[in-house]
Amino acid sequence: MEEASGTKNIGLRGVKVADSRISDIDGEKGNLIYRGFNICDLVTHSTFEEVSFLLLNDRLPTRVELEKFRADLVSERGLPGGVVEFMKIIPGSSHPMDVLQAAVIILAGYDPQLHEETREANLKKAARLISKFPALVAAWDRIRKGQDPLPPSRDLSHAGNFLYMLTGQSPDPETAKDFDTCLILHAEHSFNASTFAGREVASTHAHLYASVGAALAALSGELHGGANSEVMKMLLEIGEVERVKPWVSERLRKGGKVMGMGHAVYHTEDPRATILRSISESLAGRTGDRRWVELTKAIEAATKEEFRKIKGREIYPNVDFYSASVYRMMGISTDLFTPVFGVSRISGWAAHIIEEKFAEAQPKPELYRPDADYVGNYCGLQGCVYVPIEKRLE
Ligand SMILES: CC(C)(COP(=O)(O)OP(=O)(O)OC[C@H]1O[C@@H](n2cnc3c(N)ncnc32)[C@H](O)[C@@H]1OP(=O)(O)O)[C@@H](O)C(=O)NCCC(=O)NCCS
Repeated sequence: MEEASGTKNIGLRGVKVADSRISDIDGEKGNLIYRGFNICDLVTHSTFEEVSFLLLNDRLPTRVELEKFRADLVSERGLPGGVVEFMKIIPGSSHPMDVLQAAVIILAGYDPQLHEETREANLKKAARLISKFPALVAAWDRIRKGQDPLPPSRDLSHAGNFLYMLTGQSPDPETAKDFDTCLILHAEHSFNASTFAGREVASTHAHLYASVGAALAALSGELHGGANSEVMKMLLEIGEVERVKPWVSERLRKGGKVMGMGHAVYHTEDPRATILRSISESLAGRTGDRRWVELTKAIEAATKEEFRKIKGREIYPNVDFYSASVYRMMGISTDLFTPVFGVSRISGWAAHIIEEKFAEAQPKPELYRPDADYVGNYCGLQGCVYVPIEKRLE
């Protein structure tokens, strides 16, 4: 096996593969910028709907444009009957991420503009998907529990409507606002694994739904979006603050990972983790249940201390670390945490897929086609002699 060198065998870490106008990350200072705006300002002043418009259009909307965009999203909140029927016949044990991915591909067949490859048509398709993601996640959660999906509310915000469709109860304004903040924070993060997967598929001229399906597949893994569910499983497994130190110590000393800690790009605290920690604190205050936030803070402290001892360096929480306790306190099931990430990230994916399709940040569209060095068996330039199966030695 060859040594890792240059751009090879390093998971493309630090390798620039494209230009993008959508977001920027300062991994040293811990800043995240969407289309020029710092996420700290966006969570203070904006909404998920406005941030989605910003990501898709490269500018903030006027009041009229935002109202129109909101109305478009509201009008697309329902699901085609065929998608609901599909959910009713599959095994109830199917993982919500798998169901979401399959449902997105099924939805393609219902889009009247599926093969219309103009920017305008792709924006409309993107709005449909942004709008339907919450309905898909909520519908599956209810169907697998033997309940009927709820019709969407026309009055609630995107965030509020999701919590309503999931639980059947309108959330209180603070919880709806906190969830809206979670959606803003997860909406975009440059060339992460799922966005890259979506762009790579879009570069083949596959349609938006196929590209989003690929992005969802990449998001499902525990080293990416799947980490938030894994954090919750860890919290449940540890259970008590007193058990944190020995658990973390054993985990790290055996070479295991503490999920939700560390990041491929940030070398300081992920700014999203900072905001999510404070949401976790305020939810704990409102619900009167401090268990999850205290446990999470204790794991953060223990991991930092142990990591310093073992590796002689710092480690910080990423976006998934505090989102677990936040979603738990909002009453969301653990295996829905990653689909909820998708409910938000669909905006960033759509913006990237459109940027890729229309070469908005590069001279012309290019098919991704990287290369690899062959290090397998090789019998010489002529290739290996093919031995028919009946003549091969057992
Ligand atoms: C996200 C992640 C894959 C980034 O990995 P990376 O780019 O290799 O990060 P680094 O280069 O900083 O890792 C350096 C070392 O720290 C270790 N490390 C990083 N995160 C760790 C974690 N959460 N727990 C234990 N060890 C960790 C790595 O294994 C590596 O060890 P090594 O030098 O002995 O090989 C990694 O931090 C991770 O697996 N975190 C947990 C999963 C997670 O939360 N994913 C969501 C990301 S948003």
